Amino acid sequence: MSNNIVWHEQSLSKEERRHKNQHHSTVFYFTGLSGSGKSTIANAAARRLFDLGVKTYVLDGDNVRHGLNKDLGFSDEARKENIRRIGEVSKLFVDSGQVVFTAFISPFQEDRDTVRALLEEDEFVEVYISSPLEVCEERDPKGLYQKARAGEIPEFTGISSPYEEPVNPEITLRTDIYSVEECVDQLVAYVKDRNWL
Ligand code: ADX
Repeated sequence: MSNNIVWHEQSLSKEERRHKNQHHSTVFYFTGLSGSGKSTIANAAARRLFDLGVKTYVLDGDNVRHGLNKDLGFSDEARKENIRRIGEVSKLFVDSGQVVFTAFISPFQEDRDTVRALLEEDEFVEVYISSPLEVCEERDPKGLYQKARAGEIPEFTGISSPYEEPVNPEITLRTDIYSVEECVDQLVAYVKDRNWL
């Protein structure tokens, strides 16, 4: 980093933005295997909160990797950098007074903890989108597990690259048991319990 860069305080504060929006701003940090339902539930939850008057946005692996992170692959180091950038972008969203849902596999606990450390305690909610590998592989919405099993995708999470289950997530949503709407209900209940609306 250059030595000649000085932080400039913004004239509008996060608190002022939250006050104006009449809701808390936070990151719902989804993690889970490919095919576990991260993007589906993130989008459904964002829609539900949006309809309740909350400013929401979804950052999702497949989309962000088309732009901001299109220079990154799937080595451990590249995934770490992927998540580092997502953490910084999420922090900007929280500062802007919005609720951001991130839907990245984010396989390493250390990287998830790095994002947590960027934010205040009530600004980071780790949401484990949980479904057994067999179920994700059976769903195989993008046909990637089949390719990975055939050896056509190296370092595929769950097959040839590890996934570390969250140690202590704030929320676990079992997509193998509950419907999308039921999972969203559970997330919204968490928000209401905290009076974030
Ligand atoms: S992460 O591990 O760096 O957090 P991210 O969520 O951004 O992953 O991207 C995962 C998406 O990229 C998957 O849903 C899948 O569509 C695609 N993908 C392509 N190659 C791989 C791979 N080797 N491992 C996992 N996902 C992959």
